[in-house]
Amino acid sequence: MKNYPKYLTYSNRNNVPSVLNQAFPMPDVNTDKRYFPKNKLLFSNLNSKEDERKFEIAQFYKFLKETIEVEHFLVIPAIANLNRLNYSIPNKAKEDLFKIATDEAFHAEQSLAYLNSLKQQFQINLEDDKLPPKFIRELESQKLNKTYEDIKELLPIIFGIVTETRISIELGQFAKNTELENSVREICLSHALDEVVHSSQFQALGEWLWEQMDDKIKELVSASFTDALFYRNMPDVDALTVCFSYASNLSIEDSKKNILQSYTEEVVISEMMEVCEPTLNYLLKNKMVSQTQIDNRIRVEKDLLKNNFFDA
Ligand SMILES: [Fe+2]
Ligand SMILES: [Fe+2]
Repeated sequence: MKNYPKYLTYSNRNNVPSVLNQAFPMPDVNTDKRYFPKNKLLFSNLNSKEDERKFEIAQFYKFLKETIEVEHFLVIPAIANLNRLNYSIPNKAKEDLFKIATDEAFHAEQSLAYLNSLKQQFQINLEDDKLPPKFIRELESQKLNKTYEDIKELLPIIFGIVTETRISIELGQFAKNTELENSVREICLSHALDEVVHSSQFQALGEWLWEQMDDKIKELVSASFTDALFYRNMPDVDALTVCFSYASNLSIEDSKKNILQSYTEEVVISEMMEVCEPTLNYLLKNKMVSQTQIDNRIRVEKDLLKNNFFDA
């Protein structure tokens, strides 16, 4: 068997994980900088600068809530699951992967402290605030799908790979965006730097496990990667609706109608393709999914969206 793939660590990047600094800024109420990148499709549907601001603050609040769920329900379980996996992983690689769980617990804590402060300072009050994000519910449902019975032990790792290959790029874009509030940029930057290491380690793990699978297992894993890719990366129109309703004081139904005028199935798929690009490149490069598989799935999802949107 070939050697375990090379991957990044904190020491070879001359960096330490953000958990060691235990330092992060809190939101600044006295700034008029943005808390979330401007939504070019929706800003003209909001009536005032104040509503636009409420919308963006609510979106960042939601983003942090999702971050907590990703850390606690996707990434930490993926690492915990390594201990029960019936595949061999070299000791050093596994020890390095175990460090990720510590980082993620800190990211969740940091997100909670920041979102509590946001909630208090801006009196954010969103519908269905306790409900896990849609993509987490959809990924969880994959665990109950009989099709994946034979790769049950691999599902948490598949979800880990799908999420960890996108997040450092996403956070890096926040960190670079000079329109955003400094504290937002700072927490996203320290998180993004940790995630560069995580992404590299999850990629190495994925390649290593893939090499050890027989064709039957590869086929199931490939189908599961495709499902997870779409679940994780489709823009969550319902979450957007909740934020829009909070900012505009329109009902959920009216907010959804308003949003769906801009979020056509074409827009939803093109936003998805943009955020999933790093993950998809990795999966295609390693032949873990095929372009045909993805193209077929895009067609199915577009049809589904068209029908659901019609119902809404
Ligand atoms: Fe993280
Ligand atoms: Fe991570």
